[in-house]
Amino acid sequence: MPGRNPPPDAALPPAGPWPITAAFGSGGLGVAGVAAAELAGEHGTPLLVVDEDHVRRRCRTFAGAFPRALYAVKAFTSRRLVRIAQEEGMGLLVASGGELAACLRAGADPARIAFHGNNKSDEELELAVATGIDLVIADNASELARLDAIASGTGRRQAVLFRVIPGVSAGTHSFVETGELDSKFGTPIPGGLALRAVAQAALAPALELRGIHAHVGSQIVRAEPFLSAVDVLLDFMAEVRAELGVELPVLDLGGGFGAVYTDERPPDVEEVAAAMLDRVAEGCRRRGLPVPEVVVEPGRAVVANAVLTLYRVGSVKEIPGVRNFVAVDGGMSDNIRPVLYGARYTVAVAHPVRRGAPRTVTVVGKHCESGDVLARDVDLPDDLAPGDLLAFAATGAYGYSMASNYNRLGRPAVVGVRDGRAEVWLRRERPEDLDRLEVDPEGDGSARPAGLTSRAEGGSIPPQSDTEPGRRTAGGPGATSSREAEGRAL
Ligand SMILES: Cc1ncc(COP(=O)(O)O)c(C=O)c1O
Repeated sequence: MPGRNPPPDAALPPAGPWPITAAFGSGGLGVAGVAAAELAGEHGTPLLVVDEDHVRRRCRTFAGAFPRALYAVKAFTSRRLVRIAQEEGMGLLVASGGELAACLRAGADPARIAFHGNNKSDEELELAVATGIDLVIADNASELARLDAIASGTGRRQAVLFRVIPGVSAGTHSFVETGELDSKFGTPIPGGLALRAVAQAALAPALELRGIHAHVGSQIVRAEPFLSAVDVLLDFMAEVRAELGVELPVLDLGGGFGAVYTDERPPDVEEVAAAMLDRVAEGCRRRGLPVPEVVVEPGRAVVANAVLTLYRVGSVKEIPGVRNFVAVDGGMSDNIRPVLYGARYTVAVAHPVRRGAPRTVTVVGKHCESGDVLARDVDLPDDLAPGDLLAFAATGAYGYSMASNYNRLGRPAVVGVRDGRAEVWLRRERPEDLDRLEVDPEGDGSARPAGLTSRAEGGSIPPQSDTEPGRRTAGGPGATSSREAEGRAL
């Protein structure tokens, strides 16, 4: 992909939520020297564009600011990202066997992986122990017992952190609050449950208790919730030492560092890190505790602002006196956050500027849900027309990783851009990808277009394009219809 930055004559929206190399000019949006219009033309839309330098810089910032920083891969799991995070000095935090396996396939070093989750299966724990990952973050007493049995069965000793509920409010959306007592994650400190579980972990023959873990929530844009968590956790560590005579060398304070979506102003990472580390050092001094190694697990703050999504406008509809709708070619399948959390985004035109006057519109997706709204009441030029390109900033975290195939839309492609070049990180999901889990009745060829045989029958399904004639003319009961075959063109 040749690099052509639009002329930098007008930095239209402020830098806030956009990737560091994004530039708006009369030629439209460019990222890392590549024009958005060119990317959309070559790779189609919706398209996630990752500013690689931005991600690398965020990883380096976290790795440099804290003694140990793990990238929470759930925010956006891709091989490229896993490798970049490790190259730039971060470890990895996984939340399932699937995420663990994906990291290992990406070549991640197991000795730099931690595994958390409130309901890990035996198979997941076995995988964790067998692959020799560094830390399992146990959620509760029964998981400790299962993990101990699994580890002793393999003759290994597994290092663990124990997750406690600190009872601290993060002041964010209730769906992403995890530090309050009424939480499915972790074991509460009040009432002695956490202390009993820590005693159990300390005595378990096949476990090596390294420390405690807490995660107070996500999209936290102030230092205070982290600092309150430090106080509660150090009190608990002091209690553990007093009651059990055990000193814990690791304190994992979780993730949750905020990103900029619209007008949020989270403090600099270095600033929060200094405040947190000072609080730990000072708190340990006052309690006479040795200073533990502080671990953090950022996901969102690493990747959210490094990525933008390009959509193409399909229709513009004005309902006089009610609302102006702009419909784009993606929606809740590639970004569920607005529906799930009422999340708000910064939106801008990405095509070459025509300078229409601003008017308030609601950007909606193409799904069969009234709630499929991507951005309510945002100002966009009044000359917006079908075929135009829109860019949504800060779509890197919990967008692609929560994507679905609702309405049989394939997941978008993801391209990384750097130094005027674009590389596909994840290809667009094709119609045949969406059929890959279908199991046809034995001997019933009717569910496939004539001429196609399954791999199980020793054949192979050839790659198809939207324009392949056989695909469009398929028929018969249960056949892949031409509308399905066209996938995103539904
Ligand atoms: C235990 C734990 N650590 C880290 C994270 C990452 O959070 P964030 O992406 O907000 O930094 C999460 C997110 O849910 C989590 O549950």
